[in-house]
Amino acid sequence: MIPPKAILGAWLLLAAPSLGSEVCPNAPIDHPGEAFSYVQPLNTTIYSPYGHSPASYPSPKINGTGGWETALKKAKHWVNKLTTEEKAWMATGQPGPCVGNVLPIPRLNFSGLCLQNGPQCIQQGSYSSVFVSGVSAAASWDRQLLYDRANALAEEHKAKGSHVILGPIGGPLGRSPYNGRTWEGFAADPYLTGVCMEETILGMQDAGVQANAKHFIAYEQETQRNPTYAPDANATTYIQDSVSSNLNDRTLHEIYMWPFANAVRARVASAMCSYNRVNGSHSCQNSYVLNHLLKGELGFQGYVMSDWGATHSGVSSIESGMDMTMPGGFTVYGELWTEGSYFGKNLTEAVHNGTVSMDRLDDMIVRIMTPYFWLGQEKNYPSVDSSVGPLNVDSPPDTWLYKWNFTGPSNRDVRGNHSAMIRQHGAASTVLLKNEKNALPLRKPRNIIIAGNDAGPLTQGPDTIGDFEFGAISARARKDGTLVQAYLNNTQIVDTGLSALAIPQHPDACLVFLKSYSAEGEDRSYLELDWNGNAVVEEVAKFCNNTIVITNSGGINTMPFADNENVTAILAQHYPGEEAGNAIADILYGDVNPSAKLPYVIAYNDSDYNAPLTTAVQTNGTYDWQSWFDEDLEVGYRYFDAHNISVRYEFGFGLSYTTYDLNNLKTSTASAKNLTALPKKQPVQPGGNPALWETVYTIKAEVSNTGDVPGYAIPQLYVEFPSSTPAGTPPNQLRGFDKVWLRPGQTKTVTFDLMRRDVSYWDVVAQDWRIPTGEFNFKAGFSSRDFRSNLGVTLIEA
Ligand SMILES: *[C@@H]1O[C@H](CO)[C@@H](O)[C@H](O)[C@H]1NC(C)=O
Ligand SMILES: *[C@@H]1O[C@H](CO)[C@@H](O)[C@H](O)[C@H]1NC(C)=O
Ligand SMILES: *[C@@H]1O[C@H](CO)[C@@H](O)[C@H](O)[C@H]1NC(C)=O
Ligand SMILES: *[C@@H]1O[C@H](CO)[C@@H](O)[C@H](O)[C@H]1NC(C)=O
Ligand SMILES: *[C@@H]1O[C@H](CO)[C@@H](O)[C@H](O)[C@H]1NC(C)=O
Ligand SMILES: *[C@@H]1O[C@H](CO)[C@@H](O)[C@H](O)[C@H]1NC(C)=O
Ligand SMILES: *[C@@H]1O[C@H](CO)[C@@H](O)[C@H](O)[C@H]1NC(C)=O
Ligand SMILES: *[C@@H]1O[C@H](CO)[C@@H](O)[C@H](O)[C@H]1NC(C)=O
Ligand SMILES: *[C@@H]1O[C@H](CO)[C@@H](O)[C@H](O)[C@H]1NC(C)=O
Ligand SMILES: *[C@@H]1O[C@H](CO)[C@@H](O)[C@H](O)[C@H]1NC(C)=O
Ligand SMILES: *[C@@H]1O[C@H](CO)[C@@H](O)[C@H](O)[C@H]1NC(C)=O
Ligand SMILES: *[C@@H]1O[C@H](CO)[C@@H](O)[C@H](O)[C@H]1NC(C)=O
Repeated sequence: MIPPKAILGAWLLLAAPSLGSEVCPNAPIDHPGEAFSYVQPLNTTIYSPYGHSPASYPSPKINGTGGWETALKKAKHWVNKLTTEEKAWMATGQPGPCVGNVLPIPRLNFSGLCLQNGPQCIQQGSYSSVFVSGVSAAASWDRQLLYDRANALAEEHKAKGSHVILGPIGGPLGRSPYNGRTWEGFAADPYLTGVCMEETILGMQDAGVQANAKHFIAYEQETQRNPTYAPDANATTYIQDSVSSNLNDRTLHEIYMWPFANAVRARVASAMCSYNRVNGSHSCQNSYVLNHLLKGELGFQGYVMSDWGATHSGVSSIESGMDMTMPGGFTVYGELWTEGSYFGKNLTEAVHNGTVSMDRLDDMIVRIMTPYFWLGQEKNYPSVDSSVGPLNVDSPPDTWLYKWNFTGPSNRDVRGNHSAMIRQHGAASTVLLKNEKNALPLRKPRNIIIAGNDAGPLTQGPDTIGDFEFGAISARARKDGTLVQAYLNNTQIVDTGLSALAIPQHPDACLVFLKSYSAEGEDRSYLELDWNGNAVVEEVAKFCNNTIVITNSGGINTMPFADNENVTAILAQHYPGEEAGNAIADILYGDVNPSAKLPYVIAYNDSDYNAPLTTAVQTNGTYDWQSWFDEDLEVGYRYFDAHNISVRYEFGFGLSYTTYDLNNLKTSTASAKNLTALPKKQPVQPGGNPALWETVYTIKAEVSNTGDVPGYAIPQLYVEFPSSTPAGTPPNQLRGFDKVWLRPGQTKTVTFDLMRRDVSYWDVVAQDWRIPTGEFNFKAGFSSRDFRSNLGVTLIEA
């Protein structure tokens, strides 16, 4: 029998209605721009089960609400001076020195816009720093760290002449542990990711650089993220379309859109529409997603740019709310580059022949220029460092159509004193997962072994970071007079066995460094460590009863060796940036007390995870790549908790060299202040209805350090919604956290301010956030499965 959703999907794909159809890839919108206004009513029968994206036109215009009013005036004034052709080209990227380039307009003294990757470092940057990755930063659960990291990264970008940083990443969120790029993003939880988005955007934009919230939306796999093109295709026809993420309205709001609401609230300058389709329609021409949700419901005032090559139409994308196509003048089709763009000259023509209104084109450019003026980028902004050009693999200098004038020094050293900060951030991001038999911190060991190929540089390069674990640890060991042996060849360890290799003296500790590769463009095919990592640990542990494992990984690794009696400690460092070695030495030797917490779940087995990627689609129909987000809200720990599945290390878990307790969860709010179930309707501000961000309830708890050394506690607050909430609501959801410094014996009060959104669910019929009736159960402690105190609260009487 064909499952009902397959029938629904087929219907949607084949019987696409003509006007504003959103279910076929290049839905023609054949109308004069001005006269077109249409919002397809939301049919919850169709939409709630998913697989359909209603049409929503026209694209809402920027009105500067929320603090951009003055910048908007300047932008309008400036845009008035442009010709239609100049406007069209401002919406269209061009090959040039940066990964994305908006052409200069010398007659207006406008030096163009330089868009650069990425969220962890300047990808095309000589003499620049490598900061801790997104997943590491999220593991710190430290708002200040997130802000400082972003601020310093943006300083470097600015000094190299980037106007826009292509980050941060609010999705992929980590629906599947196999996703190849979750390390660029933050946590497999919308609340934590939302906080990370907000702090990162504030940090970047306070340094004067535009941030870009990407990838909007439901971009959860690399596999078939782009269409498959015929081998000799020059243009638009493809054999199979990109994967469609099919999800329902509630899941979209409560999981995937949630962090983007924080981003918009933080006044993010731009958003990037993603490669995937959403409910059948490409994200970059999905009017429901861009017009209705992002610009309408969330009140986004900036501009929407395409991911590189994610534009699959001109007029349809423009009417659907996309404002800038990248890389533009050259268009990527899969692996192919061809000249020509859906925008550029085609856009000029579409305006001249009346298909796109001048009003819409003006709104596109005003949206692009308002954040530019808001951040003062017209004043003395550093020029683009010419050294970035030759490092640009996307558009190397021989592809440039426009002749750039480079001014200012080349190869500027923009690192400042950031390495000290990166070292602190690396230590603050390292999660201690196991620590038995007093293994850590190390206490002047006499004799250690360093093992595993992650301890040293790549033997065949390129390896430009320079700070390897081995160097930092041996430098530190030398201070104590420790004897150090190193075995960095995993194959040799596994083939020969460490006992046959090591100088037979009993080592006090064996440090095993292991890694896991992960990158954009491909998903992971297994969750184990690379290079036979599990076997390396077993071999070392046969010989060494104090084996300490350190992993450098983009995300989730299963860790069967955690059960080995001789594995006394495990540390997950993720990708901690250029100070990886010093940062781990600081933790191993106890100069820094670990405080980081897992931003995802480590299960016992690969097969314990839900939400598999959609792979190996064997049929070859154009639209056969359909990824059904059937797990709905059960993403990450929400799934494991809903099904009572035991896990090796839960979300929010991480040890310290001291111990903490939390008790006395109570409210300081006298009574819920006559809350209405639905928020009062108010004009939308960036982030949506401002009522959603108002504190409606405050909870306090006492946190104490019950151990012997000072450290940072990370108390966490989770909510269990009342039983009146619609089915499928996860048992526990993160709704607050803090990072508190405590001396031994010290107790502090922590406060969790709950905003209306935190205690609401998305009501698909009301199309609004609703506080349910009945009793909430708030639980606080030190992980998603370590609650020390709870509190029942009724906000709305039944
Ligand atoms: C919603 O869609 C369903 C399924 O196609 C259809 O039966 C129903 O009539 C539609 N409802 C409205 C109000 O259009
Ligand atoms: C692709 O474009 C090139 C250059 O414009 C042309 O020579 C070639 O015939 C085209 N191939 C196809 C299959 O259209
Ligand atoms: C500004 O535009 C948003 C849509 O983006 C709208 O919801 C809001 O009401 C407008 N505000 C004002 C003050 O016009
Ligand atoms: C206009 O768009 C078409 C695709 O629809 C593309 O093939 C063509 O190259 C574009 N023209 C220009 C001048 O960019
Ligand atoms: C107007 O120009 C656009 C872009 O070239 C084209 O797609 C569209 O078909 C044209 N429409 C008319 C009515 O000529
Ligand atoms: C042009 O820009 C430069 C550098 O930002 C500035 O010094 C100069 O005054 C500007 N000239 C005009 C005419 O605005
Ligand atoms: C580049 O320099 C040339 C010569 O000084 C000048 O004519 C041209 O306008 C400059 N272009 C830009 C984008 O500044
Ligand atoms: C690692 O060890 C294996 C097995 O002993 C050997 O074949 C290989 O050449 C070694 N690799 C390096 C880089 O030394
Ligand atoms: C643990 O180490 C001891 C030596 O100290 C060894 O005898 C034992 O076999 C090891 N256990 C494992 C599981 O490797
Ligand atoms: C390892 O074995 C040695 C020798 O048997 C013993 O002294 C030491 O306490 C053991 N260490 C651990 C961590 O079990
Ligand atoms: C479709 O895929 C099947 C299985 O891979 C293959 O045998 C068949 O030739 C394909 N058909 C076309 C038209 O490409
Ligand atoms: C709450 O409602 C009660 C009864 O309607 C009213 O007396 C009281 O003033 C209200 N309190 C607030 C804070 O609005």
